[in-house]
Amino acid sequence: MAKWLDNAIFYEIYPQSFKDTNSDGVGDISGIILSLDYIKDLGCNALWLNPCFTSPFMDAGYDVQDYYTVAPRYGTNEDLKKLFEEAHKRGMHVLLDLVPGHTSVYHPWFKESMKPERNEYSDRYIWTDTVWESPEGMGCLSGISDRDGTVALNFFSGQPALNYGFYKVTKPWQQPMDAPGPRATLEAMKDIMRFWLSMGADGFRVDMAGSLVKQDEDSKGIIALWQEVRAFLDAQFPESVLISEWGEPDKSLQGGFHMDFLLHFGPSHYNDLFRCEHPFFSSEGKGDVSAFVNKYLENYQKSERKGLICIPSGNHDMDRLARTLSQEEMKIAFAFLLSMPGAPFIYYGDEIGMRYVENLISVEGGYNRTGARSPMQWDDSTNAGFSSASKDKLYIKQDESPDRPTVKAQMEDASSLYHEVKKLIALRQSHPALQSKGEIDFTYYKENAYPLAYVRSHHTEKILVVINPSSKQVEIPLTHEVAEVVYSCGGVASISDGKLICPGGSATFFLLA
Ligand code: GLC
Ligand code: CA
Repeated sequence: MAKWLDNAIFYEIYPQSFKDTNSDGVGDISGIILSLDYIKDLGCNALWLNPCFTSPFMDAGYDVQDYYTVAPRYGTNEDLKKLFEEAHKRGMHVLLDLVPGHTSVYHPWFKESMKPERNEYSDRYIWTDTVWESPEGMGCLSGISDRDGTVALNFFSGQPALNYGFYKVTKPWQQPMDAPGPRATLEAMKDIMRFWLSMGADGFRVDMAGSLVKQDEDSKGIIALWQEVRAFLDAQFPESVLISEWGEPDKSLQGGFHMDFLLHFGPSHYNDLFRCEHPFFSSEGKGDVSAFVNKYLENYQKSERKGLICIPSGNHDMDRLARTLSQEEMKIAFAFLLSMPGAPFIYYGDEIGMRYVENLISVEGGYNRTGARSPMQWDDSTNAGFSSASKDKLYIKQDESPDRPTVKAQMEDASSLYHEVKKLIALRQSHPALQSKGEIDFTYYKENAYPLAYVRSHHTEKILVVINPSSKQVEIPLTHEVAEVVYSCGGVASISDGKLICPGGSATFFLLA
C-alpha cells in the first residue's frame, strides 16, 4: 500500500511564503500550482503543505478555525483540489497538515464549548468543573466565559486542547477515552480526514500526534487511538499516508503511521548535526555525531530496523541550515540527508541555502521561527520573484543581502548547492539501497571524531557512504570490498594499505562488491 512512499522525497511548502500570484504579499495555492514543475524538476515527488485552512493565524494556521475551508488568503477549496489534480498528473503526491490536538479559540466548537448551558460541544475540549481548579501539568485559560471551569491548552493561549480523554482518570472532570465526548472528538477528526482524502489529498502530516490522550504514561491510549484511525483509513482510504510529528517511531509505527519525524527537540541529538555551537557538519571539525547515531540506532532497533525515521533539512519551526553552515558545508549535509533511510524532507528554499533572516519582529506567532519562514527567493525580479506587491506588503520581510541565493542564479551555476541537491536526489532515485526502506549499518561514528560512515543496503545492492565534513583529511580502516565510486563531492575518498583516506570536506559513495 502507498508504494510511492518507498522512494518519496518530500518538499515542505509553507504556503504563505512560497509564491504569491495575486499581489497581496501572501503566498497562495495558485502559486504552488505554478511551481510544481520546478519542484518536480528538482526531483521531489511529494509535498507537505503546512496548514492552509481558515484561521485567525495566531500560530501561522496551526490554530484552525474551520477544518473544512481553505483560508481565503490562499484561495478556495477548488484551488486545493486543482493542486491535488495537477500534482497527480505529474506523478506527485500531496500531504496536508492535520492539527488534531487543538483548535483556535475562534473555532465554533470552542465558542459552543464556552457556554454554561450543556450542549453538543461541552466535552469537545478538556474543562475542569470549577474555574478555581486548573488541569495539572498543562497550560490553561480561565475566566474567559460564563462556563464555570478552566480549559486546558495544547500550545499557545489561542489553542485549547481537544478532548480525546484520559488514559488514567484521577479526577471527576477527566473523561476516559471511551466516554461520549472524547469519542465524538475522534469521529469529528475522522470526518475531516474523509473530507480531504475524498477530494484527492494523499494523506496527512499529523501535528503533535503523540500527545492527544492525557495521563497516558506508556502511550497505550494514544497508540490504540491511532490504530483505530488506521483501521478506518484501511477500510475507506487504504492508499492514504500518515506521517507523524511524534519522535518515537517505535510507538508511532505501532499506531499505524508509515513514518515518523526525527524531532529537533527532545532526546534525538538532531541539533548536534547542524544547529549547535559546534555542529558536526561544520568544517571546523569540532562536532560530535556519536550521540546522534546512538539514539538513532536505539530507535532503529526498537522499530525493528524499519528505518522509517524522516530527517528533515529544516522546517518552519527551526533555524535555516544556512544559519550555521556555508553553501559548501550544506552540500555535505545534503549528502547525508539524502542517503539516510526514511523519506527525506527538504524545507522550501533549503535547496538553495536560503538564510535565516535575522532580527525580525514576530509574524503570526512565529517569534524566533519567523526568520526561517521568509518568502522564497526565485529570481532577480521584484521581491526575488515571490510577489509583485510593494515590499512593505510582503508576509514576512525577505533576506535583503545583495548576494541572497536565488533559484535562478543557482540554476545557472553548475557548481551550486541547487545542482548538488538535484544530483543527490537523482542518485537516490537510481539506487534502492539509498531509499527509504534500505537498511543501514553504521560502520564508523566515534565520539568527537570524523568521518561518519555507513552502509546502506537493499537486497544485493550495498552502498558505503563516507562523509567527512571537517576540513582536515582523516583515515579509517577499510571494512568492505569496494567496487566503484557512484558519487563524490568536495573530493574523493581513496584507498591505500587497507585504509580509506577521506579528504577534508568530502562525501564519497562506494558501490560495494
Ligand atoms: C507543531 C508545529 C508548530 C506549531 C505547533 C502547535 O510543532 O510544527 O509550528 O506551532 O505544532 O500546533
Ligand atoms: Ca496571494
